[in-house]
Amino acid sequence: MADHASPRVVIIGAGIGGLIAGIHLRRKLGRFDNFTIYERSTDIGGTWHSNTYPGCASDVATHWYSLSTDLNPNWATSHVSQPDLLAYWKSLAKKYNLYSNLVCGTNVVSAEWDDDQQIYKVTVQDVKSKETREDFANIVISATGIFSTPRYPEVMGMENFKGAQFHSFEWDHDIDYHDKRVAVIGNACSAAQFMSSITDDPTTSVVNFCRSPQWIYVPPSSTRISDFQRWMFAHIPFALRLYRWWVYLQNDLFYVGYLGAHETGLVKQKITKDLTKQMTALAPQKYHDTIIPDFPVGCKRIVFGASYLKALHRPNMEINYDGIQEISEDGIVTKKGIKMSFDVIIYATGFDMMNYPLAIRGRNNISMKEYYNQKGGPQAYYGTMLPEFPNLYILCGPNSTGHGSVIFTEETQMDWAMQLITPVLNKQVSLFEPTEAATEKYNQMLQTRLERSIWAAACNSWYRPTPQGKIHTNYPGPSAEFWWNMRQPVWRDFKIIGGDRWMNRRRIRRVATNAFRMVIFFAVPVLLWNGLPGSFNKGDLISYGQSLLVEVSDYLKYLKECY
Ligand SMILES: Cc1cc2nc3c(=O)[nH]c(=O)nc-3n(C[C@H](O)[C@H](O)[C@H](O)COP(=O)(O)OP(=O)(O)OC[C@H]3O[C@@H](n4cnc5c(N)ncnc54)[C@H](O)[C@@H]3O)c2cc1C
Ligand SMILES: NC(=O)c1ccc[n+]([C@@H]2O[C@H](COP(=O)([O-])OP(=O)(O)OC[C@H]3O[C@@H](n4cnc5c(N)ncnc54)[C@H](OP(=O)(O)O)[C@@H]3O)[C@@H](O)[C@H]2O)c1
Repeated sequence: MADHASPRVVIIGAGIGGLIAGIHLRRKLGRFDNFTIYERSTDIGGTWHSNTYPGCASDVATHWYSLSTDLNPNWATSHVSQPDLLAYWKSLAKKYNLYSNLVCGTNVVSAEWDDDQQIYKVTVQDVKSKETREDFANIVISATGIFSTPRYPEVMGMENFKGAQFHSFEWDHDIDYHDKRVAVIGNACSAAQFMSSITDDPTTSVVNFCRSPQWIYVPPSSTRISDFQRWMFAHIPFALRLYRWWVYLQNDLFYVGYLGAHETGLVKQKITKDLTKQMTALAPQKYHDTIIPDFPVGCKRIVFGASYLKALHRPNMEINYDGIQEISEDGIVTKKGIKMSFDVIIYATGFDMMNYPLAIRGRNNISMKEYYNQKGGPQAYYGTMLPEFPNLYILCGPNSTGHGSVIFTEETQMDWAMQLITPVLNKQVSLFEPTEAATEKYNQMLQTRLERSIWAAACNSWYRPTPQGKIHTNYPGPSAEFWWNMRQPVWRDFKIIGGDRWMNRRRIRRVATNAFRMVIFFAVPVLLWNGLPGSFNKGDLISYGQSLLVEVSDYLKYLKECY
């Protein structure tokens, strides 16, 4: 085991989240290098490494689904495909020299908090040799993702099937679909993306087994980004930034105008009407009765499905809502008792969102799983930390995402977390952990809002894996609100150990800064009263006034925090 005297960080997972964590450590801590990213897979990328099915791409516009510090003016389409996204993240891993801190093919099996030494004892296992070894960390960043463990349906007889069968997450590229009979189970985002490609060959016959319908959206414009736009993004200052904020704004306005709006809102009625019209116009007549959902748009993830709706017109594709009774040696028996023969079964049945993939134990030996069970489902402090789990940060943790770009969520979380991680790595504080009371209060607020949200309507969705259970993935407001709330930790919500001097210095610094701000605040009216200095113009004055308002609100918050 390494020397405990040098503070150390272990990051679990090398998907986008793990890479964002590594990039934050590199960018914000300069020479700090005592961290390891463990990845159980053979390479980095997580979602974008594993999902290689044909047609796999982002459904959030890529200029928004990119790292804020490393925008790419050269994206050729608005929604980039999996190979391009993977290449982008690999180039960032190289740029930030993360490969030297990366250990692939290694599963983190457990992490247990040792209260005497104030470290996590981390056990890792080589995926191939199964050999285990111990590591330690003062800080653990869990970036294990929410779509990293494929979920198979619980259908009788799956093990008896003699043909090829695999999950969309682990696409089998060796299969030749020519003249094959293929069953696809599931009709959500993943299935919708690959359906067109596997029905391209007219000799392949495909039956799509659906359990419930989806709201399918076909974006109006072409997804190509023109050469001129790309030139502007590369050469005109702020053009790309502005475009990104425009894309973001549309995303958050959809939340404000639709997802977060009242049940009977006009926007809701219009969107439902428009989508119904679009789907009936684009899908074959014979499916009109079955494919339009009876739950509200947005209750589960909206499917971007232009190619899926086109594929429905092909004579070699059909959809089937009969339900699956069992899987036999050579096919599927439906609940109507009809036996259908297949050569290949593809499970596009989503991911296991309920079970955290390793055993992390905090103070008092309580595991994350036990903590979540005690709370009736996953919950966390600002989706990122848990009481009794010191110095543990969970990227894309409970109620941190759901709509919008996961990259934005994870960057926001890491910006916040770095304010807590830095003093620990500088040996100014031993540990931070949110209090139970603050975590409960925050989650009561979340759940009250979520119960009134569209995600609480009646539909099957990974937002709420059990019908009456908690909605434990989504943040109930626009992503701007999540960001706003996480600009700065609310220090009174934390148990802080070993940081008295740091806390005192921080307080003194804040008092001095705020005193300075107040002096400026009072100086402005005096200046105005006596006439403006020549160098001041109206625009300066307005932006100065705005920043002063922010300063004053910060100061008032600070006073509230102190008393
Ligand atoms: C097909 C698909 C398309 C998507 N499209 C979008 C989109 O357009 N926009 C969007 O915002 N989101 C999208 N998502 C969600 C996507 O998962 C996230 O955007 C993002 O990639 C998550 O990154 P992550 O690093 O948090 O998790 P992941 O990408 O899941 O990475 C987690 C990593 O942790 C590793 N790991 C897990 N447990 C362990 C362990 N015990 N030890 C070691 N390693 C471990 C896994 O192997 C994996 O590599 C999509 C998801 C899928 C499946
Ligand atoms: N960029 C993109 O466009 C994109 C692409 C893929 C994935 N994603 C992300 O990844 C998430 C997961 O997508 P996903 O499509 O892989 O999974 P998913 O959204 O969880 O959908 C799983 C599908 O399998 C069906 N299913 C599950 N169990 C079944 C059973 N026992 N019998 C029959 N059908 C069953 C579900 O039916 P029900 O609907 O009835 O539950 C649903 O159609 C998405 O929500 C999205 O966030 C995004």
